[in-house]
Amino acid sequence: MKIIGTGRSHPSLVVTNDMLSQILDTSDEWITTRTGIKERRVISTENLEDLSIDAAKKALADANMDAKDLDYIICANVVNEYICPAMSCIIQGAIGATCPCFDLNGACVGFIYALEIAESFYRSGKYKNILVVCAEEPSRMVNWHDRTASVLFGDGAGAVVLTEGDNIKATKMSASCNWDRLYQKHELQYSPFNKKPNSNLPLVMHGQDVFKFATRAAIKDISHVMKETGYQPDEIKHYLIHQANLRIINNIKEYLNQPDEKFPLNIQKYGNTSSASLPILLDETNKEGRLQRGDLIVMSAFGSGFVSGACILEW
Ligand code: UT7
Repeated sequence: MKIIGTGRSHPSLVVTNDMLSQILDTSDEWITTRTGIKERRVISTENLEDLSIDAAKKALADANMDAKDLDYIICANVVNEYICPAMSCIIQGAIGATCPCFDLNGACVGFIYALEIAESFYRSGKYKNILVVCAEEPSRMVNWHDRTASVLFGDGAGAVVLTEGDNIKATKMSASCNWDRLYQKHELQYSPFNKKPNSNLPLVMHGQDVFKFATRAAIKDISHVMKETGYQPDEIKHYLIHQANLRIINNIKEYLNQPDEKFPLNIQKYGNTSSASLPILLDETNKEGRLQRGDLIVMSAFGSGFVSGACILEW
């Protein structure tokens, strides 16, 4: 497949590090030096589905495609207002599409999962035009009284439209179960038969373990797709890395021995927007005119699971 349109949507509220220092025992200096984040967008008055629909419409307009021509919609999402129906179904109705759809929870790696699934769908011969929307609201998951995780995340949505092409050169997905390093449990409705204690608790994160995993996994996945395709690091024009921590991105950059300008960044503005991170970054890089036809792009993401993934595509 190939990507022919991109879009993104952000909540209106900008929450700066200084604003967080007012409610948490933290500082702009700590957050900036340890993560690279200066501010993030957080949902206040809007709903996540509004952002998802907006990003989807922008990607369709960019692709010059009518929603009626879509053959599938995949939405990557960890949490939203609805347990059911799937967010993809809400998007389908709002944009006027008639195709089937489903949601996937690939944590921060949802976008690369979706690309790999879209490519497999296309290869099956049944589907040609696929909309991928990554929509995330981690501000609903973190404990806003706990400085360790709450300062890292932001909300947002990113979308791409894919159609037939030979531009996805390789994908590599990995999973190694370490669920207790980054997780959140939630309680649904009361059941008279359920004897377990209430587990409705905010996100739990062991930051240093996640950091080490992320760096190792990204290097391993990127090396895998490079080896599979035979491309050398110098041949890659853009490295789009999940915007979780600037220090993780710098470690990957050092390993690959590649210059700063190949690593677009927006972590300073949006923080970690989970699976929306990569399509938001791709849309920004695209709309800034930095992508030329034929450019090789590596994407890499990692997250709760642990899961990780990388891909190489030609623009
Ligand atoms: O998509 C994947 C999602 N998650 C991630 O990518 C997270 C990966 N991990 C990280 O990004 C980093 O581990 C963090 C940014 C979470 C933490 O950075 P760190 O350099 O690993 O710090 P640390 O956990 O070792 O904590 C150092 C100190 C501690 O104080 P003491 O024990 O040295 O006195 C923490 O309590 O920093 C303290 N600390 C803070 N101080 C001010 C932790 N969070 C904060 C904070 N503000 N927000």
